[in-house]
This record gives sequence, C-alpha cells and structure tokens, in this order.
Amino acid sequence: MPCSSCLLLLLLLLLSFPGGFPLESQEDDDLPLLMPQLPAGTPAWSVPGCPANCTCPVDETVDCGGLDLHVFPSNLSKSIQHLSLQNNRLYELPYNELSRLAHLRTLNLHNNHITSEVTPAACPEDGRIYSSVSCFKGLPDEAFESLQALQYIYLANNQLSEAPQFLPSTLRIVDMAANCLTRIYQLTFGHKPGLRSVYLHNNQLSNVGLPFDAFNGSDAISTLILSSNLLTYMPQNLPLAIVRLHLQNNRISRIPKGALSKQWRLRELYLQNNNLTNEGLDLSTFSKLKSLEYLDLSNNNLTEVPSGLPPNIVILHLGRNRLSTLPPERLSRARGLQYLLLQSNTLTASGVHPDAFARLRSLHTLHLYNNQLESVPPGLPRRVRSLMLLHNKITNIGPDDFAATYALAELNLSYNRLYSARIHRLAFRKLRRLENIDISGNQLTLLPAGLPPSLQILNLQKNQLNSLSPELLANLTMLKELHLAHNRLRISSISPGTWQELQGLKLLDLSYNELSYIPPDLPESLEYLYLQYNRITVVTAEAFLTVPNICVITLRSNRLLAANVSAEAFTDLKRLEVVDTTGNPEPISIPLPQTSRWVQPQAGT
Ligand SMILES: *[C@@H]1O[C@H](CO)[C@@H](O)[C@H](O)[C@H]1NC(C)=O
Ligand SMILES: *[C@@H]1O[C@H](CO)[C@@H](O)[C@H](O)[C@H]1NC(C)=O
Ligand SMILES: *[C@@H]1O[C@H](CO)[C@@H](O)[C@H](O)[C@H]1NC(C)=O
Ligand SMILES: *[C@@H]1O[C@H](CO)[C@@H](O)[C@H](O)[C@H]1NC(C)=O
Ligand SMILES: *[C@@H]1O[C@H](CO)[C@@H](O)[C@H](O)[C@H]1NC(C)=O
Ligand SMILES: *[C@@H]1O[C@H](CO)[C@@H](O)[C@H](O)[C@H]1NC(C)=O
Ligand SMILES: *[C@@H]1O[C@H](CO)[C@@H](O)[C@H](O)[C@H]1NC(C)=O
Ligand SMILES: *[C@@H]1O[C@H](CO)[C@@H](O)[C@H](O)[C@H]1NC(C)=O
Repeated sequence: MPCSSCLLLLLLLLLSFPGGFPLESQEDDDLPLLMPQLPAGTPAWSVPGCPANCTCPVDETVDCGGLDLHVFPSNLSKSIQHLSLQNNRLYELPYNELSRLAHLRTLNLHNNHITSEVTPAACPEDGRIYSSVSCFKGLPDEAFESLQALQYIYLANNQLSEAPQFLPSTLRIVDMAANCLTRIYQLTFGHKPGLRSVYLHNNQLSNVGLPFDAFNGSDAISTLILSSNLLTYMPQNLPLAIVRLHLQNNRISRIPKGALSKQWRLRELYLQNNNLTNEGLDLSTFSKLKSLEYLDLSNNNLTEVPSGLPPNIVILHLGRNRLSTLPPERLSRARGLQYLLLQSNTLTASGVHPDAFARLRSLHTLHLYNNQLESVPPGLPRRVRSLMLLHNKITNIGPDDFAATYALAELNLSYNRLYSARIHRLAFRKLRRLENIDISGNQLTLLPAGLPPSLQILNLQKNQLNSLSPELLANLTMLKELHLAHNRLRISSISPGTWQELQGLKLLDLSYNELSYIPPDLPESLEYLYLQYNRITVVTAEAFLTVPNICVITLRSNRLLAANVSAEAFTDLKRLEVVDTTGNPEPISIPLPQTSRWVQPQAGT
C-alpha cells in the first residue's frame, strides 16, 4: 500500500488526537477482500455440492460464515479454492477433511473457538465429539502439509496457544491476531518466499516464544505486527524487506545492538507504550533506517532524545517520556522532520538548548504541551506553523520570543500563568500569518496589544478581563471569532467603538460575564451571539438593530422578565434561527419569523 496515504491517515489521527494516538490502530487494512462478491441474483442454494446452509457464489468458493457451525462441513469438494468459516463455533479442524483440500487458496477461520491443544486426559470427559478416534489438536499442523496452494489464512480471534509448527511455503498473508499464542516455530513463518504480511497482535508472545530464525527465508515480509504481546526486547534477525513494524504495547526495555541495522526499507516503526530507556538504546539503534518516516516512541521511559536519528523521519513522537532537556544536534540529524511531538515530558525552557531545533527546516508542527516550561523556549524552529505551548508554567512573553517564527499560523498558550503586564506589547509583531491564537485560562486583565491583522480566531476565555477598548482590536479586520466567555466584563468596561473595526466578526462569545444589557453597536457581520449567564435585565427594541444577519442569540440564565423583552427587537432579523431564553426568572415568548426556533422552558419546568 502506498505509504504516503498511510502517513496522511496518521497525520489526521495525530491532529484529531492531540492528547496522543489511539492505542491500537487498525491493523488489517491490507487484507484482501476475503470472498468474491456474490453476483446479484445468484441462486446460492442451487449449486450442486454446496454444503447445506452455506452459499457458493462462484465456482470453487464456499461461504459458510456466521452459521453457528460447531462442526467442520464434511464432504467438501476437493477442488474448492476459497473457504470461509468465519464467525462460527468451530473448536477443531478434522485432519481428514482439511488435508483433502489441496487446491485451497483462502482459508478464513476468523472468530471461532479453535485451540492448539486438547490434552488427551481431558478428552473422554469434555463431552465433545471428535471426528477421529484419538484426540488431537484443534488445529492439526500436519494437515497443512497437503495444502500446497494456500495463500491466505485467517485465524484471528480463536484460542490458539501455539502457532502451527508448519504452514505451507505458498502463503502470502497470515493473520493470527487475538489468540493466546505463546510460541511460534521456525517453519510457522520461515521459508515462505511470498509471505508479505504477518499479523500477531494481541497474543502472549514473549521473546522466548519467538525463535531467532522465525523469519529466515521469508524475505518478502513487509508488514509485521507484533503489538500487544509480552516482548521485553526487540526481536532480532527481522526480515530485511520490512516496511511496517508494529511493536507497541509490549514491555520492550531494550533494542539489541544491530537489531535494526539492515532494515533499510522500514518506514513505520511503532514502539509506543513500552519500557524503553536510553540505556536500552545505543548510538546506532536507528541510524541505519534511511527510509524511516514515522517513529513513535511515546509513553516510554526515555530521559533523552535518542542519538543517531535517521535523516528522513517525518513524524517523531516522543510524548509521555521523561525528557527534561533538549540538547543541541540530537534532533537536527532528522533534517526532514515535519512533526515533532514532545508533550507530557518534564521539559523546562532553560533545558532547551537554543540550537535544539536548529536545521529543522521542514518542521511545521511542534507540540510542547503539558511540560514544565516557565517561558517560551529559545530557538523555536523558524518555519513552525502550529505551536502548542498549552498547559505549561509560562509567566511572560518577551519581545523576541516569537521574533523569528514568521510562519506561525496557530499558537496555543492556554492554561499558563500569563498576566497582561508580562506580555510585551511587541511580542506578536512578527507573526504576520497568525490566524488562531488561544490564550484562554490565564490571568489577563486586558486584551493583548499588537495582535496581527491576519488573526481570525482569538480565544481569551477564562481570564480576568475587565475592560475592552477599540485600540487593542483595531486592525483585526479579518477576525471571525472572538471568545471572551468566563471573564469579568461589564457594560461599563466596554468602551464605545470597541467592535467598530471588527468588520468580519461572525461569532462573539460574551457568556459568563457581568453584562447587564446587550452590548451596543455590535458589528454587522455578526451571526452568533452568546450572552448566556450574564445579568441582562432588558432587551430593548433597538438591541439588534446593527446585526441584521444574526442567526443565533443565546440569552439563557440572565435576569429577563417577559415585560422587559421587546418583541420588536427580533422582527427584522430575517436569518434568525435560534433564540434561547431558558433559565430566566420568567418564561419569555415572542412571535418570531417562521423559520426561527425559540428555545424556552417547557410548561411546568
Ligand atoms: C459427497 O459428495 C459427493 C458428490 O459431491 C456425493 O456423491 C456423496 O454422496 C457425498 N457424500 C456424503 C456422505 O454426503
Ligand atoms: C440449516 O439451517 C436450518 C435452519 O436454521 C437448521 O435447522 C439445519 O440444521 C441447518 N443444517 C445444517 C446442516 O447445519
Ligand atoms: C537464519 O538466519 C540467520 C541470519 O541470516 C542465520 O544466522 C541463521 O543461521 C539462519 N538459521 C537458519 C536455520 O537458517
Ligand atoms: C521496566 O524496566 C525496568 C528496568 O529497566 C524494570 O525494573 C521494570 O520492571 C520494567 N517495567 C515493566 C512494566 O516492565
Ligand atoms: C523507568 O526506568 C527506571 C530505571 O531507569 C525504572 O526504575 C522504572 O521502573 C521505569 N519506569 C517504568 C514506568 O517502567
Ligand atoms: C488550545 O488548547 C485548548 C486546550 O487547553 C484547546 O481546547 C484549544 O482548542 C486549543 N486551541 C488551539 C488554537 O489549538
Ligand atoms: C494598526 O495598523 C497600523 C498601520 O498598519 C499601525 O500603525 C497601528 O499601530 C496598528 N495598531 C495596532 C493597535 O496594532
Ligand atoms: C422591567 O419591567 C418592569 C415592569 O414592567 C419595569 O418596572 C422595569 O423598570 C423594567 N426594567 C427595565 C430594566 O427596563
């Protein structure tokens, strides 16, 4: 599968999970369609030799999926090529039936109860009927010796504790995820020149259960999924063609020297949620991986950025480790880096060397949230477009903190310890491309000065703002959203003309303040006005005169009495869709244009 598309997917995941990746990604995206599509109108039952209740949509294809079968269908035609038995209750595959199917190419046994072993002693008592006299394993290894055409075998979601000792050399894809495998053998996956993908996630494999030569002679394996097992170190002697290697959710604490020294094609290495320390790595652990684009080392036990990063990494995830410093040079080797994720470590600004990000000319997304930064770190990458500094301890912003980051479009400084007096009035002067700034959850009493005219979204909620003045909002003609909820704004603290320059403003959130009436002279472009949880007592006939395009007005939980709300205020608002007046001392109802929805308490509430 083209890796650019998987990178894109990851990217989307990344952006939609700023707190970290989802733990287990979908592992089965390159499994082929298991069964040919049933052509419309095929009389499925009528095919001679098709087992009862199964369908046989095309020649040599038998689909017995989801039939609650307890027993393997008997007397299957010897010539079948595709057999689907997924979602049944099979606990064993009879040797005699399976070994006959010499032409079988696809065997789908996903989601059954197949076990590896039946202890002979348990046989007489367990009440099951076995199809041969002696008790044997639920999965008879020997049966596979005659399946000399088998290419795809799906055994995920069964109860195998050991992999088959032997699988045919014709195999291309093997899926044994979600069993309880503790052991695989030399010829389970070894000596299969066409094998491309091996899925072993969600098992109980430890390093002891994985032989050193497990993949010898299977030089085409490009996808190897071993996540969610019990590995304590990275397996050695992995196939050289490997492109995707997933080892997340194990207990890996070291990568033996040379384990990754020849995997030149590896593009995606997942090692998150393990127990890696810097002592478990060496200078060359990753240095030979010249195709590596995505390295996920998040949620490990690293105290330093690993040495010897290869040059072509695009995404490096080091979040949730124990990094407290960023030395020079370490990161700079990864010259192609675009996304650097360092959240949830213990970084301080003084621990970040001014050259830590030097030469990272493609780096556009830098996540530093949830660290111990006491100020903006020095030497920020020059081309950064998205910078996440939220949830730190930043107390001040100096005139030069953002003097070199001219490409910055999105800046999140929320939940720090900023006071208005500690934000330099020239701090943002170079940010000519800034579109979105979030300074919510700080201690600001004034709007920050010198915000750039490119700004589209300004979030200042949850501060201590007690005044608004036109000078500080002048020039913000592109502003579309202004979030001022949870502050201490009163009508008297909003200077006349405050909104005058905001000719593009569509959303104004003034909820949870101390307003006693609707602010006057709101900009004509406004569509959403949030005023809930204030102290508004009156809506005059002129209240919305300046906002003819308004769509939504929320006046919930104010101090409105019905007599103080003028119906006229709403009559000319042609685009009005919702007015919410619930939670006021009296129910309020005003006739509205037909399309509108007046949200108010139900009778009796
Ligand atoms: C097995 O199938 C063959 C032909 O497909 C049929 O002649 C024979 O009767 C079947 N045997 C049983 C036991 O169903
Ligand atoms: C086929 O399905 C019917 C109805 O569900 C069931 O009674 C019958 O036992 C099934 N036959 C076989 C061979 O499973
Ligand atoms: C498996 O491959 C490794 C490395 O190439 C080699 O040292 C080992 O002898 C091989 N083992 C077998 C059984 O082929
Ligand atoms: C992680 O590794 C350390 C040794 O480096 C070990 O003491 C600890 O038990 C390991 N933790 C887990 C969860 O495996
Ligand atoms: C991290 O590594 C240290 C040793 O360097 C170990 O004592 C500690 O248990 C490890 N932490 C975890 C969560 O495994
Ligand atoms: C900033 O972070 C907060 C979380 O504290 C989040 O809700 C908000 O969407 C972020 N803003 C931007 C512009 O990324
Ligand atoms: C607004 O822009 C003008 C001209 O670009 C500039 O002189 C003035 O200082 C700016 N005002 C603010 C508050 O940034
Ligand atoms: C609200 O209406 C009441 C009763 O009509 C009136 O006495 C009061 O002055 C009005 N309050 C405001 C703020 O207009």
